[in-house]
Amino acid sequence: PETGCLSIIVLGASGDLAKKKTFPALFNLYCQGFLPPDEVHIFGYARTKISDDDLRNRIRGYLVNDRSASPSEDVSKFLQLIQYVSGSYDGAEGFQLLDKEITKHEISKSSQEGSSRRLFYLALPPSVYPSVCRMIRKYCMNKSDLGGWTRIVVEKPFGKDLDSAEQLSSQIGELFDEPQIYRIDHYLGKELVQNLLVLRFANRFFLPLWNRDNIDNVQIVFREDFGTEGRGGYFDEYGIIRDIIQNHLLQVLCLVAMEKPVSLKPEHIRDEKVKVLQSVLPIKDEEVVLGQYEGYRDDPTVPNHSNTPTFATVILRIHNERWEGVPFILKAGKALNSRKAEIRVQFKDVPGDIFKCQKQGRNEFVIRLQPSEAMYMKLTVKQPGLDMSTVQSELDLSYRQRYQGVTIPEAYERLILDTIRGDQQHFVRRDELKAAWEIFTPLLHRIDNGEMKPIPYRTGSRGPAEADELSAKAGYVQTHGY
Ligand code: BG6
Repeated sequence: PETGCLSIIVLGASGDLAKKKTFPALFNLYCQGFLPPDEVHIFGYARTKISDDDLRNRIRGYLVNDRSASPSEDVSKFLQLIQYVSGSYDGAEGFQLLDKEITKHEISKSSQEGSSRRLFYLALPPSVYPSVCRMIRKYCMNKSDLGGWTRIVVEKPFGKDLDSAEQLSSQIGELFDEPQIYRIDHYLGKELVQNLLVLRFANRFFLPLWNRDNIDNVQIVFREDFGTEGRGGYFDEYGIIRDIIQNHLLQVLCLVAMEKPVSLKPEHIRDEKVKVLQSVLPIKDEEVVLGQYEGYRDDPTVPNHSNTPTFATVILRIHNERWEGVPFILKAGKALNSRKAEIRVQFKDVPGDIFKCQKQGRNEFVIRLQPSEAMYMKLTVKQPGLDMSTVQSELDLSYRQRYQGVTIPEAYERLILDTIRGDQQHFVRRDELKAAWEIFTPLLHRIDNGEMKPIPYRTGSRGPAEADELSAKAGYVQTHGY
């Protein structure tokens, strides 16, 4: 690993994302020794005029690490690494001051062997990305003679449709090279999402089965049992397709559907993901169901007439040799009956069924991303006993049981460590982003223009019944037993 001075700059330090995700992830990395205090300094930057201690007090309550031997001591030591600088997002002054402070820190660590590294984390709304990137480029780049680097981390939403995303990409692309830009999709940092590559390509028995000859349909499902409370303003502008499906679920789809990459090099993996996205056929209106939970418009930050979907089921079809004819059913919703994210790969019926067991259900391979990470395979077995009747059962790998005592890292923790190490495997490349927007932009425009309306559904329900009907029509057979 590289050594030398590392400055981590969290822009938007007083915001929600920084408080809830970025600083806690940095704290966890610190507790595990990935941010050695003799090399690392953390800067918070935002417009609010507050002191170092004010910032520390704001984030203190969010720093929890159950792996730490002496939690409160670790929290205090970690907070001492944080310094606050205030300034605007488009003026020279703040960024000049920031650069001065970073440089001061670098000089104080000059006895340290190696180069200086600057990681800028933009926990900010995308509207300020271009100006912030311009300011960083102009005033805050790493100047060390010994090498080192400057990297920037950006969060979704990367635009609202194809044109706005491309515009944003060009603006940032003029200032930074692609290897310096880390577009976070935190689903790529989840344990079971990262496991997909291993599962598919390191296990012989999936290889011959993972195709249109054997698989009937694939469902990728995201459910939340709470609404958009507190984020109604943001959400209403974006809706569930931009918030979850176009990014998180589509990334999962890529990993489920892609061909084997030439190697594990980030570029090889991302090349294969782009090919999947480029093979997706235009979405048909009749393969979309939109929903909006009752009560969504009661939020004072949501307009009374809002047409924004809080639920959607969209069927994607991949036009290639492996997947022709296999529907990928993407489903996401807020204010539903449970909180769950899972992938369900449903296999075709066994030809010439001599047991007459097919009514009991199909073989299905389920990967539960959260909560309680697990994988299980539904299969038909002989009912234990004297006769030859059959029953549905499971081969079950539950992480909590199998890996007792192992803490599964938070997605952000992993991804931030990757940005420090310079590994872009789990980040979205510019062409990948473009291809993802190409898939959804025509549908999003139809929704934005009011040509497609969401169906109301009850809070705490499964979503509109029409969505289940669509999945069934696409071939999904509901099975019971787990
Ligand atoms: C975010 C969305 O990207 O992901 C939120 O903006 C959503 O609306 C969240 O709640 C879900 O993330 P997780 O990791 O809790 O599934």
